Amino acid sequence: MKFIAFNVREDEEKYFAQWEKETGNEVLRLPEMLDMTSVEKTKGFDGVLALQTGTYPSEMFAEFKKFGVKVFSIRNVGVDNVDLDAAKENGIVVTNVPAYSPNAIAEFSVTQLMQLLRNTTIFRNKVAKQDFRWAPYVGRELRSLTVGVIGTGRIGRAAINIYRGFGAKVIAYDLYPNPELKEQGIYVDSYDELFSQADVITLHMPATPNDHHLVNSEILNKMKDGSYIINTARGALVDTKALISALKSGKLAGAALDTYENESDIFNHDLSGKKIDDPIFKELLALDNVLVTPHIAFYTETAVENMVLISLNSAKSVCEDGTASTIVK
Ligand code: COI
Repeated sequence: MKFIAFNVREDEEKYFAQWEKETGNEVLRLPEMLDMTSVEKTKGFDGVLALQTGTYPSEMFAEFKKFGVKVFSIRNVGVDNVDLDAAKENGIVVTNVPAYSPNAIAEFSVTQLMQLLRNTTIFRNKVAKQDFRWAPYVGRELRSLTVGVIGTGRIGRAAINIYRGFGAKVIAYDLYPNPELKEQGIYVDSYDELFSQADVITLHMPATPNDHHLVNSEILNKMKDGSYIINTARGALVDTKALISALKSGKLAGAALDTYENESDIFNHDLSGKKIDDPIFKELLALDNVLVTPHIAFYTETAVENMVLISLNSAKSVCEDGTASTIVK
């Protein structure tokens, strides 16, 4: 079996090498993204692995078919950027890594919220200017807050446990409630209820066309003054312009964005010294009550190891047996 992997980073290398040694299969590793300019490189390979937020369009799957590719294994969980219909039409099996480390992402939500609550960016900037005064940046404690969790899949449930561990009151919304959580009475009945009752909203849901700009000016207006939004899920869920207005008006006290709606040409690229032609993004970066991180909530040793090994095992299993537990349906 022959595999090719795109967008491979140096921190993934040892896991690829380990897998090759253990299974006797070879994987050609490339640093570049998979797009219509690089897809030709997949010719003659049985399986293709990739990890990126940029899209995998329908034409790509037609090319895979032409080149004899059987399986497309993404090394992450979200499939919003994969044209699954086109994959099906072209007979390409798609696999993902549904649970590489829910805790990695859940912990990052809490990490970022804690920083916002204690104004660490503001204090870091003040200290750099040798201004060591405290007032008026008094912090807030998690145990005095209500955290609203959207999405109670693996990541949302890990977040609920961690937030509860800090003493926060947790409420949640999910179109498909988890039976155990339902019994605990954690769910509210609507987004309106969730946004109006919570001091903090943390997003842990996939992006679908129905949820585009779920966090918009209308729903933000329903929040208490001085609330927080944490997005470690997908940029498309948040109307960034509306978020900026809410941050400027004081409706929101802060936001932590690990994803951004137009991130694919920005995050995980070295743009030092280059002009970023995105006025909305630049406006975000200029706000001291916003924490922007380049889609790193997932980025832990545990997660990276699982992403590489599980995706490779999935690709191998599809090639050998025509099936895998991680096939995206
Ligand atoms: C995912 O697993 O879907 C992520 O958001 C991680 C990212 C590197 C694509």
